[in-house]
Amino acid sequence: MILVTGATGKTGAAAANALLAKGAKVRALVRNEEKAAGLKQAGAELVVGDVNDAAVLAQALEGCEKALLTLPNSQQQLDQEKRFTDAAVKAGLRHLVKLSSMEARPDAKAPIPALHWQSEEYIRKSGLGWTMIKPNFFMQNLLGSAGTIKEQGKFFLPLGDGKTAMIDTRDIGDVVAAVLTGDGHIGQSYEVTGPELLTFHDAADRISKAIGRKVEYVNVPMDSYRQTLARFLTNEWHLNAVIELFGEIASGADLAHTTDTVKKLLGREPKSLEAFIREHKALFGA
Ligand SMILES: NC(=O)c1ccc[n+]([C@@H]2O[C@H](COP(=O)([O-])OP(=O)(O)OC[C@H]3O[C@@H](n4cnc5c(N)ncnc54)[C@H](OP(=O)(O)O)[C@@H]3O)[C@@H](O)[C@H]2O)c1
Repeated sequence: MILVTGATGKTGAAAANALLAKGAKVRALVRNEEKAAGLKQAGAELVVGDVNDAAVLAQALEGCEKALLTLPNSQQQLDQEKRFTDAAVKAGLRHLVKLSSMEARPDAKAPIPALHWQSEEYIRKSGLGWTMIKPNFFMQNLLGSAGTIKEQGKFFLPLGDGKTAMIDTRDIGDVVAAVLTGDGHIGQSYEVTGPELLTFHDAADRISKAIGRKVEYVNVPMDSYRQTLARFLTNEWHLNAVIELFGEIASGADLAHTTDTVKKLLGREPKSLEAFIREHKALFGA
């Protein structure tokens, strides 16, 4: 049995679906049973509860050999992941796969990658078999800009000439499923990226090609972006943490490069940004 946390989220759902498609036995830890109806129908066993609840963690981990730990960014994330790791040790889990990030390095300064690195270190020292999945910027983040692209032919981000090697979260899910069902992945850290290292001006070109209409990337000052984002992210810690990470990306720091992880583990190329946008072209007003 393989436990998937965050199973109604982007990476967790992609991993759970990929595992189910491979015929694996999946238990999904979810907070909202309704949101997980599709997973249940596809054959996943559900445990409904909160990762902060020790009894729920014990119930979710009971009888599982392997697990994917993917949780959203918050001030509590590191503690949640440490407690999950302790519970996994207690339950006798053999292999813990953690969804981390490519920017998570020993010298990471921004809070989100720094907490991922600390969580990785905690897991590495736990005695569990582990694999770190370290993706770059999700293509799905661009869906948040689909509205302005549709209405104005523009998208507004504070990322300057920063570069990312964007990845479709479904490719991440496929990588996680390959790791959890294959051999030889314990003790490995995999940086997972899409096929191209792109500035957001390059991304605008790819989007233009995909939807057949000129799209412009507008670099906005970080302060005004912060005000916009504050309407959606009401938690101050989360807001500051995202702004700090975006500041690092915008600074042109050497945070991203392409890797051949998808090709090596899946035997195929990762999805290109152009193909991703084409798939969602109605949202972008094509
Ligand atoms: N965005 C990027 O570009 C990027 C790049 C690299 C790495 N990452 C990393 O990816 C991770 C986020 O993954 P994601 O985008 O898949 O997250 P997501 O879509 O926000 O999903 C979060 C999942 O966690 C569940 N959850 C939240 N709090 C919970 C709790 N207390 N107990 C149980 N479940 C809980 C949510 O359930 P509900 O559906 O009930 O809310 C949801 O299923 C983060 O750690 C981030 O640092 C992101």
